[in-house]
Amino acid sequence: MVITIDGPVASGKSTIARLLAQELGFYYLYTGLLYRGLAAILVTHYGYNETQLKHPRKEDLDALLTGNRFEYRYEDGEPQIYFEGKAITGLLKTREVDNWSSISSADPAVRHAVLERQVSIGKLYNVVADGRDTGSVVFPDAVCKIFLTASLEVRAARWQRDQERLGKLFSLDESMQIVAERDERDRTRSHSPLVQAVDAYVVDNTTLSREETVSIIKAHVLKALS
Ligand code: C5P
Repeated sequence: MVITIDGPVASGKSTIARLLAQELGFYYLYTGLLYRGLAAILVTHYGYNETQLKHPRKEDLDALLTGNRFEYRYEDGEPQIYFEGKAITGLLKTREVDNWSSISSADPAVRHAVLERQVSIGKLYNVVADGRDTGSVVFPDAVCKIFLTASLEVRAARWQRDQERLGKLFSLDESMQIVAERDERDRTRSHSPLVQAVDAYVVDNTTLSREETVSIIKAHVLKALS
């Protein structure tokens, strides 16, 4: 069984999806982490620049994604990316990786490769998946689809706080600009853009706490199951 939570940058998808997965005893699939891991490795291991990230070479993607060199794991309640046996998750939330993943994720070959990983995880477990196209493209038959959103200002403030935790300071204006730019790229790409699936429930959490958001989503899940 699959539950999907899609939405724009910093709408709280990962926090909420992880809490929901814990409460339901489901596997948490943070699909953005796959895009982040792939982009970060293409830059740091394969020496890509931003222009090359727009269209990664097929042989690099094949070399990276064949076998277990690149792995997504959900361990002890934490989503992790492993590269050649080492967890690299701690390196994947920086502003640079935000940007790299948002560039390479527009490429159809990257999306195809990541889609395969997501689908195979969905066959193995009961999953809560979050991302941009999990309800519209990856898991069209998901039992319950949520589109989670919040105002740009609130999302930018969340992103700003996350960056602050990493020791990076941005003003609210800068954060709003950066978040809006990533949203724009996700919404306007031709392949699997960020869209609200027609059968998704919209949850706007601008003024909601995490607990309130989870409980609203749980109510939608229960309704979908009944
Ligand atoms: O969700 P998160 O912000 O961590 O995702 C990082 C980037 O990966 C996004 O900016 C987006 O470009 C891309 N992404 C995507 N499709 C998904 C999940 C993430 O294109 N399902």
